[in-house]
Amino acid sequence: MRMRAAIIAALILTLAASFACAERTQAAASLKATMRAWKTNMGALEGMAAGAAPLDSAEALRLLQEFATDSQTTAGRSIVTGADAADIHARFEAFSADARRAGEAIPAGDPLQPHLLRLRADCRSCHDLYAN
Ligand code: HEC
Repeated sequence: MRMRAAIIAALILTLAASFACAERTQAAASLKATMRAWKTNMGALEGMAAGAAPLDSAEALRLLQEFATDSQTTAGRSIVTGADAADIHARFEAFSADARRAGEAIPAGDPLQPHLLRLRADCRSCHDLYAN
């Protein structure tokens, strides 16, 4: 009887561990997908800011809004655990806030370029630490 309880307990632990692992794998896969989308979005925004493409205010706003919401969602996920988790969380929160500020520049008629440089710096500084 005790043996059976031990086996069941072990099974539950194994299942719990594999669920936690699957959740992390899924979070990692969706992080990659998010990052690839961000690369495309950033290219489009930089093209507009550089005058390579005409500034489509509505589209630029949509892309920046996507940054802000994606980043908020990502900050809420358990991508990385351990000592770095709090720092990464804070970085995604900061990126989200910077994207929102960049979005506010558009209706205000402020230049987009400085905001994009800020966002680029956010991408780079996080990658330098966590995406090698
Ligand atoms: C707060 C952290 C953070 C920020 C901000 C961030 N990234 Fe990332 N990025 C990561 C991490 C972590 C990875 C590695 C993901 C992996 O390999 O699973 C990554 C990977 C990538 C990749 C490679 C994806 C692949 O297919 O392997 C691209 C492209 C990318 N990021 C683009 C960007 C762009 C563009 C920005 C800014 C607009 C940005 N990232 C902002 C953390 C961040």
